[in-house]
Amino acid sequence: MNAALLQRLRMSLAQREGSTLRRKLSARSSTDARVNLADNDYLGLSRDPAVVEAGVAALHEWGASSSASPLVTGYTELHQRLEQTLATWQGYEHGLVMNTGFAANSAVLGGLPKKGDLILADRLVHASMLDGIMASGARLRRFAHNDLDALELMLHEEPALEGVIFVVTESVYSMDGDSPDLKRLASLRQRFGFCWVLDEAHATGWYGATGSGLQEEQGVFAAADIVVGTLGKGLGSQGAYVLSHAPEVRDALINFAGEFVYSTYLAPSCAAAALAAIGRVKALAVERIQLQAMSHAWRDALLDAGFAVPSGDSPIIPLILGDAEITLKYATALRAAGFMVSAIRPPTVPVRTGRIRISLRRGLMPQVLADFTAALKGVRV
Ligand SMILES: Cc1ncc(COP(=O)(O)O)c(C=O)c1O
Repeated sequence: MNAALLQRLRMSLAQREGSTLRRKLSARSSTDARVNLADNDYLGLSRDPAVVEAGVAALHEWGASSSASPLVTGYTELHQRLEQTLATWQGYEHGLVMNTGFAANSAVLGGLPKKGDLILADRLVHASMLDGIMASGARLRRFAHNDLDALELMLHEEPALEGVIFVVTESVYSMDGDSPDLKRLASLRQRFGFCWVLDEAHATGWYGATGSGLQEEQGVFAAADIVVGTLGKGLGSQGAYVLSHAPEVRDALINFAGEFVYSTYLAPSCAAAALAAIGRVKALAVERIQLQAMSHAWRDALLDAGFAVPSGDSPIIPLILGDAEITLKYATALRAAGFMVSAIRPPTVPVRTGRIRISLRRGLMPQVLADFTAALKGVRV
């Protein structure tokens, strides 16, 4: 290996080591019996019999891989059915399945905005959105997290543009579990005519009468111009999608997005599992109300135990502990007490906001909450 490169890699890794921010992979065992409070399988669908069976049947019918990029032969009838099902469910005319949410966001935001355009993005949008934005050549302004007054001010400040204004938000923020006021965003969109790109990754399955997401829950069904979603969280599968009202968005991705064109397409078994998961999600209306109540109960209990957590009803509860070292100590103690948790530290979150990101799931018993708060109280830092 080239000596200069090795030296550079060692230096940057050593910097991370020194600041307790070094990441290490640890392989999970299929027999690990700890309570998983870290992953994104909010509805437990990755192990739902109907979902697993659909995946297995597709493995038999289609094999283990799509074996080609979509424009070659990778795009199957299953992918087509999935994109149509997703679009209809969420109120859009057009859908396109992508390999990952990361690829979907970087394709949309790297490909649609151009030099001369302006992107107004929430300060906490996901890394995949920023990756795209940085590649796009458009000018970026970031508004304070969920601060729609600040967004509105920016919209007023900007002189008339030749180019397009994009507004980029999530519906449930991945590390904070909070949400913007989508009704207000929809009305700003009406007034200012920008293109609203909304990432519903963490809301799908959890919110809305049919589980289609926060737009449905907040009464602004299909208001965003472009929705990005993932199959790998509440839908218990893997992969992602982009939905739009305009056929041109789908066509542009098919023609110009390297993430779509030059990559082996999502395995048909993942598409089949996602299709089955959508059916299950639609049937879980009563559970959704209970899940949101569970989110309130966890937050109240954590507050009672002396931890500052924000109010809300999303599946993600940030237990903000501050310092990276303290966050690691909590994570280690909680793992030893039987909980699978992950210590989220900078640069994933801002400095001094290290946290345990508690991720709720269907089927968590009240006793888990009691045991978890007892374990938390027992941590000595
Ligand atoms: C808000 C958000 N968007 C997109 C993604 C990426 O989705 P995927 O895991 O399907 O690549 C994530 C993943 O963590 C996310 O939190």
